Amino acid sequence: MLASGILGYSAETLESIVEGGAGAVVTKSIGLKQREGYANPTVVQASCGLINAMGLPNPGIDEFVKEIRQAKAVVKVPLIVSVFGYSEEEYAKVAKKAVDAGADAVELNVSCPHVRETGSEIGQNPTILSEVVRKVKAVVSAPVIVKLSPNVTSITELAETAEKAGADALTAINTVRAMAIDAETTMPILSNRIGGLSGPAVKPIAVRCVYDVFEHVKIPIVGCGGIASWRDAVEFVLAGASAVQIGTAIALKGPSVFRAVARGVDSYLRRNGFESVNQIVGLAHKS
Ligand SMILES: Cc1cc2nc3c(=O)[nH]c(=O)nc-3n(C[C@H](O)[C@H](O)[C@H](O)COP(=O)(O)O)c2cc1C
Repeated sequence: MLASGILGYSAETLESIVEGGAGAVVTKSIGLKQREGYANPTVVQASCGLINAMGLPNPGIDEFVKEIRQAKAVVKVPLIVSVFGYSEEEYAKVAKKAVDAGADAVELNVSCPHVRETGSEIGQNPTILSEVVRKVKAVVSAPVIVKLSPNVTSITELAETAEKAGADALTAINTVRAMAIDAETTMPILSNRIGGLSGPAVKPIAVRCVYDVFEHVKIPIVGCGGIASWRDAVEFVLAGASAVQIGTAIALKGPSVFRAVARGVDSYLRRNGFESVNQIVGLAHKS
């Protein structure tokens, strides 16, 4: 799947991702009202990844429903709309509008590491997280996926909370809180100072999160964080993921990264005598 926030705004870009071989697409996170996002710079290159603080720029759900309808007409794979809000009610309103417009599922972004009063504040607090999931589940019949933050003491507690509140699946992980400072100007590089790290640098953290969460929940896990090759994808599945998302790797490898990963996973399965990816989900826990 395409991870949220990377090329996930318009029907055209989503279509190019599907042509690249993605089995499902997640849109950029959408809120109730339009948000400008932060001033530049919003992305900075780190040694093994990117640090971003976009500030959740989005047109607001009432405008975005047009894109959802257009995308549904051209995108022949499941369309998952990523949703954020500042209250339980906002999450529920946005999710309902997205599903009414044709979204096949919603992914709740309760884990944005750099916008105050949404994201992490919700994803780090079991009581609020539970209320958000319950309110959304009460108004939509489509599957509800909860995207977990790695910026917590116990990701398993939040995963269990989401499952108990009715989540149908979990995505692990969103970006890891990070920053970069320019030695010459002596200033933080991102306009927001703090951002979220993605790409190969976070992969071992993400694999550990999926591994831990798998031991505590029964619902499917979508692995995400630093996947760029079939070997990375297999690692996540062995840790317990039933599907994977790719984001940052698209910047380097282009949309065809999806087909390359899928083909690589297929030949890995064949080489090792497995009939389906389901046979290797969580296999690392048995060894
Ligand atoms: C530029 C950029 C924008 C992002 N925007 C969002 C977003 O709007 N919502 C969200 O849930 N995650 C967002 N993410 C996080 C990704 O979906 C993903 O969880 C993270 O980047 C780790 O995966 P990766 O290493 O494959 O990129 C963003 C990441 C990047 C790099």
